[in-house]
Amino acid sequence: MKLSLGVFCLLGVLIPGRIGLRSQYVGDQVLRVLPQTSENVKQLQQLCDTLLLDLWKPLLSEDIQAGEELHVRVPASSLQELKGSLNQHLISYEVLIRDVQEQLDSSMPRKGGSHWRVPEGYSYTVYHPMEEIYHWMYQIKESNSELVTQHSLGMTYENRSMYYLKISQPSNKAKKIIWMDCGIHAREWISPAFCQWFVKEILQNYKTDPKIKSFLQNLDVYILPVLNIDGYIYSWTTERLWRKSRSAHVNGTCFGTDLNRNFNGSWGSIGASHNCSSLTFCGTGPESEPETKAVARFIEERKSDVLCFLTIHSYGQYILTPYGYKTDLASNHQDLVEAAEKAAVALKEKHGTNFTVGPTSLVLYKNSGSSRDWAHMIGIPFSYTFELRDKGAYGFILPPDQIQPTCEETTTAVMTIIEYVNQKYFPNSAVAVTSGSLWLWLIVLFTRILS
Ligand code: ARG
Ligand code: ZN
Repeated sequence: MKLSLGVFCLLGVLIPGRIGLRSQYVGDQVLRVLPQTSENVKQLQQLCDTLLLDLWKPLLSEDIQAGEELHVRVPASSLQELKGSLNQHLISYEVLIRDVQEQLDSSMPRKGGSHWRVPEGYSYTVYHPMEEIYHWMYQIKESNSELVTQHSLGMTYENRSMYYLKISQPSNKAKKIIWMDCGIHAREWISPAFCQWFVKEILQNYKTDPKIKSFLQNLDVYILPVLNIDGYIYSWTTERLWRKSRSAHVNGTCFGTDLNRNFNGSWGSIGASHNCSSLTFCGTGPESEPETKAVARFIEERKSDVLCFLTIHSYGQYILTPYGYKTDLASNHQDLVEAAEKAAVALKEKHGTNFTVGPTSLVLYKNSGSSRDWAHMIGIPFSYTFELRDKGAYGFILPPDQIQPTCEETTTAVMTIIEYVNQKYFPNSAVAVTSGSLWLWLIVLFTRILS
C-alpha cells in the first residue's frame, strides 16, 4: 500500500505537463482588502501573521498601510475566520479570485500531455515547464547559429545548469552589453514566457527592422530565461505559488531564499526578512546562494561593458528604477526616468495598459538586496525592474490568454529602452535608411522643389 502510493506520487511528478496533482488550493481565495485606519492596519497585520497568510501585495505585513489596498491568498480553512474578523472590524474587502485551484486548473489547458508542438513549432502563448524551456534554448541556438550562442552561467543549488542565450551579430568591433533575466521569482510565470517571446521577436525581425539592426551593430543582448530554475520547477511539480529558490536552511527546517533580496546592495537592511521561513528571506549573507553568485560574478567581470540591466517580474505594472533600499535618487535619475517614460508611452500604445514609472522605494515599497539596486551600485547606468501584468485581478495566476498581449506590449517597452541606450552611447549610428525609403524620400524632395 505504502509502496504503491509512493510510486503513484513519483509518477505524478514525472508526467510532463501535469501540475497540482495535489489540489492544494481548493477553496482558497484571493481577497482585496482596504484598511482605512491605523487600527485596521494593526488588525490586519495580526490576522496575516497569526493565520500565516500568503500576502501578495505588499509582501510583508509590516508594509501594510492605511489607504493602500492589500492582496492576500487565504487558505479555505481560514476564510471564515478571516472574513468574520474583517466584518467585525468593519474593514472592507472584495473577492479577487473565488477559487484559486479552479483558476490554476483553467490556466493549464495541457492536461494529459504536451501540446507545445503546434504545427508552426514552439507555442509562445502557453506556459512551459523547465524541460521544454531547456529544449527550446537548444533549438533556438541550433537554428539561429549565425546570431545566437548558448552558455552556462553556473549551477543552481540543486545542480542544474543556468543557461543563457547570447544574441550577437558577428563583428570585429567591441560591443556593449544589454542584460535581461527572467524568472527570479518562481511563481511569476509570465516572466520566463516574456524572455522567450523577446528572443523570438529579435530573431524574427532583426533582418528587416531598422532599429533592431541598428542596435545589434553596437550591442550584444544576453538573456537568462529562468534565473531561479529550482524554484520554477518546484512551482510546476509541487507548489504553484512558490516564490523563492530551494536551498535548505536551519538543518532542513525551512527552504528557499528570496533571490531578489540576496544581492550585495545594502543586503538585509530593509524590506527583507532574516527568518528563513519568510517569503522574503534574504539568505545568510550577500550572494549566499549559487544562483545570485553566478549572476553577480558574470556581470562584475563585464561591468564596464554592461550598459543596461533588466530584470523581469510580475505583477503590478511598473517600470522601477533604483533605489529600493533608500529614497535617494540615482545619479542619472533623469535619464533613467526619461527612457522609462518613453517605454511606458510606447507600451500603452499597444493595448492601452498603464504602467507606473519611478524609483522603487517611492512608487512601490522599500526593499534591499535586489539585483536592480546592486547592478546600479556597481556602475551599470540603466538598471530597471519590470513588473508585468496585471494589477491584481489574477496576480501571479495570469491566464495564458494574456501571455500574448503582455509580451507584445513589454517587447515594445524593452525595445524602446534599448534604443534609448543605443542612441545615447552610439549617437552616430543612425538607423539605416533602406534603399526603398531613400528613393521615396528623394522623390518627395524633388516634387517639393519643382512645385
Ligand atoms: N515581483 C514582485 C516581487 O515579488 C511583486 C511585488 C510587487 N507586486 C505585488 N503584488 N506585491 O517582489
Ligand atoms: Zn518578483
